[in-house]
Amino acid sequence: MSPRSDPEFFDAKYRADPDPWNFDTDWYEIRKRKLLMALLPRPRYHAALEPGCANGHITLALAQRCDRVVATDIAPRALELARARCRDHANIVMQRWALGEAWCWADTFDLVVVSEVAYYLPALALRSAIEDMAAHLSIGTIVVLSHWRHDEKDHHLNGDRANQITLSALPHQPVAGYLDDDVRIDVVTVRP
Ligand SMILES: C[S@@+](CC[C@H](N)C(=O)[O-])C[C@H]1O[C@@H](n2cnc3c(N)ncnc32)[C@H](O)[C@@H]1O
Repeated sequence: MSPRSDPEFFDAKYRADPDPWNFDTDWYEIRKRKLLMALLPRPRYHAALEPGCANGHITLALAQRCDRVVATDIAPRALELARARCRDHANIVMQRWALGEAWCWADTFDLVVVSEVAYYLPALALRSAIEDMAAHLSIGTIVVLSHWRHDEKDHHLNGDRANQITLSALPHQPVAGYLDDDVRIDVVTVRP
């Protein structure tokens, strides 16, 4: 398999299996979500953006801490599954949008969660996507980057590189972080 960025690849994965990364049961996934949520520095946020929301596990956790969550994915089937998981939460909006596409919100976000998605973009495309995002974020927005560190055949980048490229394209100050053999989580605040 070679690195993939196309929506058809991800949509086919969800059509073959509604939980293609074992988000429901895999200890790495369950623990990562808890680490990520615990690293958020503020108790509450006004509006969160979550690109690559998959079938909605992190979305659901964010909905407890945010007045509004905009959850997006490149794969329409992922959004159907996320909608079903989050159906009781009126503060979640699901939208088909891919990191790398033109920014399309007038909203101001005070939290952006980029988890296990940046490594699906080639380095130059990721840099350009983050530069565009940075141009639309307010000073003080919290940005969380959380990525599996190992090389994978369908990833353009490993997690360390994905976080490094993202941080180099985003004017920021570090807030918190977590590192082990498997996952790297960087929490930063946007600065001028
Ligand atoms: C490994 S899952 C990560 C799910 C979740 N964010 C997490 O950390 O558990 C990757 C998700 O990103 C989606 N995806 C891949 N490329 C994307 C892109 N450029 N923009 C938005 N979503 C994308 C896939 O469809 C898939 O649902």
